[in-house]
Amino acid sequence: MKATIALLPGDGVGQEVIDAAARVLDAIAARFQHTFTLTRWPVGAVALKAGSPPLPQPTLDACLAADAVLLGAVGDPAFDQGPHERRPEAALLELRQALGVFANLRPARVWPGLAGDGSLKPGLITGLDLLIVRELIGGIYYGQPRGRSADGQVAFNTMRYSRPEIERIAKVAFESARSRRKLVTSVDKANVLETSRLWRDVVTEVGAHYPDVKLEHQLVDSCALLLVSNPRKFDVILAGNLFGDILSDEAGAVVGSLGLLPSASVGGKGGLFEPVHGSAPDIAGRNQANPVAAIASAAMLLHHALDAKHEASAIEAAIGAALESGCRTADMASTGQDSCSCSGMTDAIIERI
Ligand code: IPM
Ligand code: MN
Repeated sequence: MKATIALLPGDGVGQEVIDAAARVLDAIAARFQHTFTLTRWPVGAVALKAGSPPLPQPTLDACLAADAVLLGAVGDPAFDQGPHERRPEAALLELRQALGVFANLRPARVWPGLAGDGSLKPGLITGLDLLIVRELIGGIYYGQPRGRSADGQVAFNTMRYSRPEIERIAKVAFESARSRRKLVTSVDKANVLETSRLWRDVVTEVGAHYPDVKLEHQLVDSCALLLVSNPRKFDVILAGNLFGDILSDEAGAVVGSLGLLPSASVGGKGGLFEPVHGSAPDIAGRNQANPVAAIASAAMLLHHALDAKHEASAIEAAIGAALESGCRTADMASTGQDSCSCSGMTDAIIERI
């Protein structure tokens, strides 16, 4: 197979973890005799610092032309004060919208042998395997009007959802549940928000076409509680853009580290694949980042964008084996335990491919 993959390392640890994922993709290409052309493009603060917009036109063109996009992270405290369009994060929102990738799949599972390492009791999380299906190009992230008054004393955003936007993401959740444990938990704040009441109505209607899948509704506050008190009750969690963003970081803590969670954004052109974690400026450039989320995102890329399911499984098995051999980056290591570097963890994974 021949494929072009646009790599957008972005900011902070994005550089290190994309280097790691690129090495893994090279190893897969060698083992399965594929030709992957990996090209690198600036995005986020890296682009802003070079005098470009956060999503430069050549980067966007390359993403639209590629078979898939693998992104590291965007975000830099140096741009915290700027207007929305001049923030590194704006690049990601624009890219997601330009690619039309409305469905963000965020699997969270506890890898064998890792249950004792996080903050939750192993008895609560051993074998945990859930999937967050997050709506990605609508809701309060994009709703108009948005802004801040001239005197800076008032600011506003708009939470907006339409029936077709909810229908298409609900279908993704129900279809995903069919090949899993057949339970969809739809998350909203229907006791307060109109958007959530529409969300609940439409999800219920779509659910009626999937009689084999059980549907539950959870208010987002109660869902946040259940996610730490009884996480194994969940199979597929269906959420809007903002609620899905918040719950996915919580899921990172539940499985032991946010540095383990990959994501796939699909439904549009090609696909955008990225770790759930951010740019982590505090540890950037020190070879300490956990590359697992980016490497597992590369596996999702192979699976979803290139239909290379064996190759994706080979990466996942190698990650599992490296973790079982005791390799832990600092975010996962228990106090006192020796930790692997980012490149050390990557070596351990590549050796097992
Ligand atoms: C994520 C991130 C992004 C989001 C930011 C960087 C815009 O937090 O992918 O979860 O909020 O979607
Ligand atoms: Mn997030």
